[in-house]
Amino acid sequence: MLDTLSLRAGYHGGAVLHGIDLTVSRCSVHAVLGPNGAGKTTLLHTLAGLVPVGSGRIELAGTDVTRLPAHHRARAGISLVPQGRRLFASLTVAEHLKLAHRQRTAAWSPARVLDLLPRLGERLRHRADRLSGGEQQMLAIARALLTGPRVLLLDEPTEGLAPAVAADVLALAGRLAADGLAVLLATPSPASVLPIADRITVLGTGRISTALDGAAARQDPAHVLAALTPPRHAPQEQP
Ligand SMILES: Nc1ncnc2c1ncn2[C@@H]1O[C@H](COP(=O)(O)OP(=O)(O)OP(=O)(O)O)[C@@H](O)[C@H]1O
Ligand SMILES: [Mg+2]
Repeated sequence: MLDTLSLRAGYHGGAVLHGIDLTVSRCSVHAVLGPNGAGKTTLLHTLAGLVPVGSGRIELAGTDVTRLPAHHRARAGISLVPQGRRLFASLTVAEHLKLAHRQRTAAWSPARVLDLLPRLGERLRHRADRLSGGEQQMLAIARALLTGPRVLLLDEPTEGLAPAVAADVLALAGRLAADGLAVLLATPSPASVLPIADRITVLGTGRISTALDGAAARQDPAHVLAALTPPRHAPQEQP
């Protein structure tokens, strides 16, 4: 559904991503792992059209979208759930859903979203800044669903959440993938995504250091952990 080919991108003319090749298939969760500053957010923002592409290509279902502006990419079906959720603090749950749905007549209606996320239905009149972290994340995902995505980009969706709530968010990502979406999920924590990822890519300072199937990663989690650990330099000899 989504392919990048030798993708280079960055800020102010400098490159942060140095040639990224990856594929996110329908009905799958592709986890992008990497430590702080590895370029996970830059990658997701580049796919969403928020960071300009230096060179390389982005294809959505075989169509070149590399130069499409962000709002056209969203309309084409690439939807970003940003790191930190970026909700409007003073708007209610209902207002968020109404705003998001206005931008799109999609397969996803507010009723369908609330069916999937009944907890949000109980919170319709609550302001976003009065929600728990888990509820805020669910609302951020609900907002993205209402734009009718084919590709869902989740940037650190479990950041700051208690383990049980994080597990709910990951289960939701898995369910949405099973339902047909192509899900790209960025996170620094391998343990949380290993159980649900169909594909794993490890980024190290803007380059892919390891790419493997989820099944292979589950059989050999040490391989993923090793890819996430920066190489140790031999200690300098004392004179
Ligand atoms: N707006 C920006 N302008 C200039 N450089 C930036 C900008 N945003 C990020 N960077 C730089 O790009 C590199 C990758 O950052 P990025 O935020 O993509 O990493 P990340 O993997 O998402 O990290 P984190 O786990 O902290 O969210 C870092 O060196 C960072 O300083
Ligand atoms: Mg980030």
